[in-house]
Amino acid sequence: MSRIVGIDLGTSTSEIACIIDGVPKVIPNTLGKPITPSVVHIREDGEALVGEEAAEYLFTRPECTFMEVKRLTGSGETLRAHGKEYSPEDVQAMLLRYLVSCAETYLKEKIDRAVITVPAYFTDVQRRATARAGELAGLSVERIINEPTAAALDYGLVNLKECKNVLIYDLGGGTLDVTVLELFEGVLDVKASRGNNHLGGKDFDEIIMRNLADTAGDERALMRLKKAAEDCKIALSTQESYEVSLPFLTTARDGKPVSLEKTVTRTEFEEWIREKVDSTREPMMTALADSGLSAGDLNIVLLVGGSTRIPCVRKVVEESLSAAAHSLIDPDLTVVRGAAIQAGLLDGAFTAADLVLTDVCPYTLGIAVLHESFYEEKLLFDPIIPRNTTIPVEKSKVYYPVEDYQTIVQIKAYQGDSSNPENNEYLGNVTLTGIPPAYRGKREPIEVTFAYDVNGILQVKASVVSTGQTVSAEISTTGVKAKPPVDLAQWEKAEGAKRFRPAMRKAEKLIAEEYDEDGDLEILVRQIKEALLLNKKEQAEALRDELLELLEAMK
Ligand SMILES: Nc1ncnc2c1ncn2[C@@H]1O[C@H](COP(=O)(O)OP(=O)(O)OP(=O)(O)O)[C@@H](O)[C@H]1O
Ligand SMILES: [Mg+2]
Repeated sequence: MSRIVGIDLGTSTSEIACIIDGVPKVIPNTLGKPITPSVVHIREDGEALVGEEAAEYLFTRPECTFMEVKRLTGSGETLRAHGKEYSPEDVQAMLLRYLVSCAETYLKEKIDRAVITVPAYFTDVQRRATARAGELAGLSVERIINEPTAAALDYGLVNLKECKNVLIYDLGGGTLDVTVLELFEGVLDVKASRGNNHLGGKDFDEIIMRNLADTAGDERALMRLKKAAEDCKIALSTQESYEVSLPFLTTARDGKPVSLEKTVTRTEFEEWIREKVDSTREPMMTALADSGLSAGDLNIVLLVGGSTRIPCVRKVVEESLSAAAHSLIDPDLTVVRGAAIQAGLLDGAFTAADLVLTDVCPYTLGIAVLHESFYEEKLLFDPIIPRNTTIPVEKSKVYYPVEDYQTIVQIKAYQGDSSNPENNEYLGNVTLTGIPPAYRGKREPIEVTFAYDVNGILQVKASVVSTGQTVSAEISTTGVKAKPPVDLAQWEKAEGAKRFRPAMRKAEKLIAEEYDEDGDLEILVRQIKEALLLNKKEQAEALRDELLELLEAMK
C-alpha cells in the first residue's frame, strides 16, 4: 500500500507532512517553505497557481484570485474566474493538488492517500465537502480528523507518559476550536469540543480595515488595505503601535488620489476586537463544563493557531481558566504534524506504538418530531446522539407515524441544542415508504438509527420494525466518499425511464394542481428520479409501485 500523507487545509495557510524515520516531518513547498498561503489564482488557460505565487495576484488580478475559500466549504456558493464557474471544493482541490505535488517531488513517489484535518466544529456538510475536495484532487481521503485533536496527537507524542487534563484553544485564520481531552498513558481521550466556524484572524483584519478607510468597491485598494491591516495586526502582537502607510490607495469622486497614513496603537486595536475575543469565553467554558472538569483540574492549556499570538487573546484564555496558557513551539505546524501521525498510524509508518485516540461528536444530533397534546400540535427536536458522545457511535430510537393509515414518513435530521428544530441546523432527510397502514394504537413502530463515524460523518437509517423495510438517508454516504450530485431535470434521459413516464406525468400534474397536500407525491417523484439517475432499477420499480398505489388512492 502506498504512503498516507497528512494535510492541514487552513483558512489562511496550508501544510503537508508525513512520517519519516518514525517522526512527523513537514514537507517544504516548491519555494522551500513549510507553510503555503491558502491562495489560488486561476489563469486565463484554466491553470491554477497556488501559494505565494498566487498571492501576488491578489493585488493585480483580484477577480480571479481566491483566498480564505475554506470559509465557503460546503456553502454551495459559486466562484467565478474568466467566465467559468468553480465550487469552493474545486478551488480547495487545486490547493490540495499543489501540496500533494510538492510532497511527490520531495518524496519522489506518487501520493494518492491522505488524512485531512478540519475544525472540530465543522458540520457534517462541511466535512463531506472537504472529503469531496480531496476526491476532486485525486486523493483517497482515508480519514478526516479534527484540528485540535491533531494538535493533541502531536503534543501527546512527546508527552506520552504523563497523565494530564489538557485544554486546546485553537484560533486560526477563520475558525475557533476549543477541545478538552485527557492524556493517559498514551490514550488521548477527547472529552468535549466547542467552537465557532466563523471567527478568526480574518475578522480582526476586517475590523482594522473598517477603522482605517472606506475603499468604496475599489477591489485593488481593498486588497492593499487588507494586506496592510494584517501586517498591522501582526506587528501589534509585539509592538505597542504601528504606522499604516498606503500612498495613492484609491481615487476620490473628484479624481484626486487618496492616500492613507495612520498610526494604530495596541490599545486601540484591542478595543476594536474586544467583543470578538470575549466571545471565545463561552466555547471555553461550555467545553470545560461538558467535559465534566473544572478549570482547576486542567494541567495544561495549549494555544494553537496564528491568532493566539495576539496578547489579548492569550490574556482572555488565561483569565477565563485562571491558568497560564502555553504556546506550542510551532503553533502553525502542530496540526499538520498531528495529521501525519494519524496518517502514520493508519499506514503503519508510525510505530510509536501505544498511541490510541478517541474523539467526540461535537453536536447534538436528532430529528424533528410532531408533539401532540390536547390543544396543540408542534414540532419538537428530539435528540438521538447527545453532543460530545465518543465516536464512532450508533444509536437508535423508535417512533410512530402521526396519522392513521399513514404509509410514508419523512424523517428530518437536525443538529443543535434547541428544542425548536427551526433554531437548529437542518442536515437533510430520509423518506421511509411502504409502511403498512394502521390506525391509532396499532401504528407501526419505526426505528431511526443515527450512525456517526470516526470521520465525523453522519448516516441516517430508518426502518419499519415489522417488515424490515429500510431506507438510508440522502445525507448518508459510505465512508467519506461524497455522493455525486444528480441533476433531477435529466431523469428522462436515464436508462429505462420511458416506462415511468405515464405515472410521473400524472403525479406531476396533480402536484401542479395542488392536489398533493402533504407533499407525499412530490417526495416519491423526486425519489424515483434519483433512483433512475443513479441506476438503482429495483428501487425505482418499488417506488413506482408505491406511486401507482398512491395515485389510485387519490382518484
Ligand atoms: N504574530 C501574529 N499576530 C497576530 N496574528 C497572527 C500572527 N501570526 C499569524 N497571525 C494570524 O493567524 C492567522 C493564521 O493562523 P493559522 O495559520 O493558524 O490559521 P489557519 O490554519 O489558516 O486557519 P484555520 O485553522 O482557522 O482554518 C491569520 O489570520 C494571521 O494573520
Ligand atoms: Mg489551522
